[in-house]
Amino acid sequence: MKSHDMERLVAAARNAAENSYSPYSRYAVGAALLDADGGVWTGCNVENASYGLTMCAERTALFKAASEGRRSFRAIAIVGGTADAPAVPCGACRQTLAEFCAPDMPVAVAPLREGEATLRTLGDYLPHAFTPASL
Ligand code: THU
Repeated sequence: MKSHDMERLVAAARNAAENSYSPYSRYAVGAALLDADGGVWTGCNVENASYGLTMCAERTALFKAASEGRRSFRAIAIVGGTADAPAVPCGACRQTLAEFCAPDMPVAVAPLREGEATLRTLGDYLPHAFTPASL
């Protein structure tokens, strides 16, 4: 994927993080998922007074897309944290992404406010994933 496209995705994720509802952790996260048709699906983390019910930004974006019929994705950008410690997808989000996304799908993580993205793949984050092909 072109670096320009990934920059656009990071910008969309930063925009999405503006809507983060994170009064408990005060840790805003945004995500932007690019589908196979070029559509961009964004999400943010949505926390709850019953803390364990919190939904991550990545799964918010993925569930928005999947619930509108999208099943194939080309890349995701995630923003959160600082340049020294940018957010990375949690284990639950890695597994959820692996349901729909190939191991070679690019995953960019970047600090919430500004700064360079780090590019890895979903397989880097979740090697040997349990997927529909495992069944
Ligand atoms: N969070 C995400 O939205 N995505 C991740 O992959 C890491 C964690 C959120 C959940 C919670 O609202 C806050 O960040 C602190 O854990």
